[in-house]
This record gives sequence, C-alpha cells and structure tokens, in this order.
Amino acid sequence: MPTQTPERPAATYHRPEAALEATQHWALRDLPPFPSIAVKLLQLLSDEEVQVKRLIELLRSDAALSAELLRRANSALYGARTQVSSLQQGLVLLGLDQVRSLAMAVALGSYVKSAMRIAALRRCWRHSLATALLSERLAHAVHFEADRAYTAGLLHDIGLLGLMVNNPKEYANLLLVSRENGFDIRVTEQAMFDVDHCEAGAWLARQWAFPEEILNSVRHHHDPIDDSQYGLLAITQSAVLLSDVLGFGVIPPSETGLDPSPYEALRLQFPAAAQDCLPLRMEVLQDFLTQRINAYE
Ligand SMILES: [Fe+2]
Ligand SMILES: [Fe+2]
Repeated sequence: MPTQTPERPAATYHRPEAALEATQHWALRDLPPFPSIAVKLLQLLSDEEVQVKRLIELLRSDAALSAELLRRANSALYGARTQVSSLQQGLVLLGLDQVRSLAMAVALGSYVKSAMRIAALRRCWRHSLATALLSERLAHAVHFEADRAYTAGLLHDIGLLGLMVNNPKEYANLLLVSRENGFDIRVTEQAMFDVDHCEAGAWLARQWAFPEEILNSVRHHHDPIDDSQYGLLAITQSAVLLSDVLGFGVIPPSETGLDPSPYEALRLQFPAAAQDCLPLRMEVLQDFLTQRINAYE
C-alpha cells in the first residue's frame, strides 16, 4: 500500500461510533485466529471459582506454551529459589493468578512474534506488557482483582497488535509518520487502514468472543477517565496514560529525554489509593518496568 501522509488532525479526536463491530475491515482480512488456548484462558478469567485442575489441564494441552511458561517462571525476577520443573510446582511458587497472567502473556507473545523483527513493532509489544504491569499495580492498590486488570492491560491494544501482525511494514511506517508529524496514531490509522485500533480491537474482541469487560476496555481505553467508578476500565485507562508518560508508549519519547512533570501531574489526578502505589520519582517505576519487561523478553 502506498504511504499516505494524512492531514494534521483537529485538536480533539472524534472516533466514529457508528457500525462499530458490524463490518469486516480490509486491514484485518486473513488475520490468523487468536490462539484458542488464550481464548479459553480468558473464559477461565471470568469464572469466579477457577479450578486449579482445569487450568493445569488447559495449559498441559499446549506443550509449547507449557514449556515456554516454565522457562519464564524460572526467570530470576519471579523469585523462585528452586527450579520450577512442573506446572503444579509453578502454581505453588507463583500462585494461580500469576500463572494465569503469565500464560496469557506467553500466548499473546507467540501471537505477535512474527512482527517482532521490526524494532518499532517490538515497542508496541513492550507497551502492552508495561500497561499490563501498571494495571496490575493499580488494581492491587484499589483492591481490584489483579489478574483481571493485568489481562485487560495486556489486551487493550489488541486492535493495534492485530493491524500490526497483518500489516507489519505498513504499521511500522504508520508509527514513523505519526511520530514525525505529531499525529495521534488513531488518526493515522484511519487514514491508512480506514479503521482505528480501538474500533479494530472491538471488532476482533467480538469475533474472538472475549469477555464483555475486556471488549469494553479495548474499545474505550483512550476515552477520558470517569473516576466516579474506578473499576476495570478506569484502571486500564490510567495504565495507558502512565505507560505513555513513563516512556513506554508506542511512539518513543523525543531524543531530548522525558520530562517528569506530566507523570507527576497525572499521578495526582488518580484516586488516593492509586497515587500511593505510584512512586514520587518516575525513575523508580521506569526501572521496575524495564526490569520486568526485559526479564520477560
Ligand atoms: Fe491504544
Ligand atoms: Fe495503548
């Protein structure tokens, strides 16, 4: 597809609401299906009482995923003193929620792997991981279920990841055009793909039968936060904003470095409990994210 340079967008971005999940988008045509194991993991996530036995059976049914999961579980940063050699042992050492979150990240990581050769696209994957980790941290602070928040954070940009996997070179170019011109990537997506990643993601989430709460976060993660109800959507939205101000956005920060003031101002907009879980100095949080993401990769 030829490169197009969209016109400079208006100051406020209005996403078309019409026909949100109705039509197949050409830019997503022939996209490989989401791994069935990840869909089943998502369904387990919405179960109140998850049976450990069912989770182990499910993970065992995918040998490649189990092997990868054990490898990651053994990463020093997950703090296992002894070598994790079985899923049961992993569950004992890491806990059910961590194993479930890790399995989801492994499944999504394998889905986007083909696009990871391009550095600009690897950044999008790191952004998803950063948003998942930040969502988990905020959820702990406000007494929300951490693994639900982690998963919503991990999947919030599924539309972006889908567009990227299906059109890697074009998407890398889109990021470049957006960066050079200061465009919101959703405007560039509309111009290049006739759909933005929120709408594309909502369509995919519907196709792949994601739980409604995940679909909601996928569709609305860039909407303004309504903190009268600080639930899953607000947690995801906060984590997305934090990820950007901490330098983990899909567009890299300018070469002059990151200014700490947007982080400090953003932190103060969150409910008190959420503020308390965010260090005053943003470097502390950046180091935490870098360590966790590097350990994961
Ligand atoms: Fe997004
Ligand atoms: Fe995002």
